[in-house]
Amino acid sequence: PTGLLADTRARPLHDLRISITDRCNFRCVYCMPKEVFDKDYPYLPHSSLLTFEEITRVASLFVAHGVEKIRLTGGEPLLRKNVEKLIEMLAALRTPDGRELDLTLTTNGSLLARKAQALKDAGLKRVTVSLDALDDAVFKKMNDVDFAVTDVLEGIEAAHRVGLGPIKINMVVKGGMNDQEILPMARHFKDTPYVLRFIEYMDVGTSNGWKMDEVIPSAEVVRRISADMPLEPIAPNYTGETANRWRHADGSGEIGVISSVTQAFCSDCSRARLSTEGKLYTCLFATGGHDLRALLRNGNSDEEISTVIAHIWRARDDRYSELRTANTSELKERKVEMSYIGG
Ligand code: GTP
Ligand code: 5AD
Ligand code: SF4
Ligand code: SF4
Repeated sequence: PTGLLADTRARPLHDLRISITDRCNFRCVYCMPKEVFDKDYPYLPHSSLLTFEEITRVASLFVAHGVEKIRLTGGEPLLRKNVEKLIEMLAALRTPDGRELDLTLTTNGSLLARKAQALKDAGLKRVTVSLDALDDAVFKKMNDVDFAVTDVLEGIEAAHRVGLGPIKINMVVKGGMNDQEILPMARHFKDTPYVLRFIEYMDVGTSNGWKMDEVIPSAEVVRRISADMPLEPIAPNYTGETANRWRHADGSGEIGVISSVTQAFCSDCSRARLSTEGKLYTCLFATGGHDLRALLRNGNSDEEISTVIAHIWRARDDRYSELRTANTSELKERKVEMSYIGG
């Protein structure tokens, strides 16, 4: 069942983001605050998780529908046992015209130094690493588990050495917490092969206590950096890219800004999300998902599941960030957590 799928806003299905665990060894204040994600937090039991075979089966149906990029997320995806095995299985998938996928993963970097080679050998193409500060005290305040910056930097270097590039570094900017790190981070990653991207702090989930006045608009990030290091805008790599790209005027690399609060990018959003327990979400801010696991476990055929996926995508009209910008109501319903649905 190939053929291009488009939703009600004519947006194609291009990316599949798969959360493979709802657990994480960090407690980032904007994502899994300690007060909520404590020892009593009801994480999913193992039996709820999609197995590697189930994930691969669903992924292959998405690929048949035109998905060309698969990103593994979490929680922290490298915490999933034998993740290399899953990568090997996904790396074997081909687009309808026989091409390999862009197979990537978003990680906090804590286990990367140890796992980079195995991930590369399994067929992973590249990684994106989250890093919110260069200053140890600030970083520890953000991750809230006393994890040191140098360990993440070592992970990034290991990934680069084994060829898991181009590597992107994601920094969530939370005003009053790490925004003083914008310039040091920009300086540090200038003249490196790494593309640093600044992400506006978002109101995902319901536990991070998000407030608009803690969002530093991307325009402000660009203003602060260009006051010190001149920047020039550059064209997107592809339609629907999350980041707006800028390059250093002296030719020493690029940065990106992801402005989902101040400049929503829903109009080109081609991302589907599969939660850890196999629910399909058509938006990061959706309040509900479609239970694909039930179909997988109730003996439905590939054909049947594929048809369901097509129906869901064709009916899609999500554009949460645009509505938030327009300040409409209806946004009070219970949203799912980032650690469950994947960034
Ligand atoms: P590339 O393939 O490298 O361009 O990656 P990407 O930007 O698609 O994915 P990545 O996981 O690096 O996304 C970076 C951050 O952007 C995420 O952690 C989210 O904070 C945010 N983001 C990604 N996709 C969406 C989206 O569809 N909607 C919103 N609102 N934010 C998103
Ligand atoms: N706002 C913006 N980005 C977030 N992430 C998690 N929570 C938030 C939030 N509230 C993103 C970060 C991190 C990735 C795993 O998820 O980019 O790098
Ligand atoms: Fe873990 Fe990433 Fe969430 Fe931080 S942002 S708590 S590293 S999943
Ligand atoms: Fe896509 Fe929803 Fe994010 Fe808009 S808010 S870009 S529709 S995931």
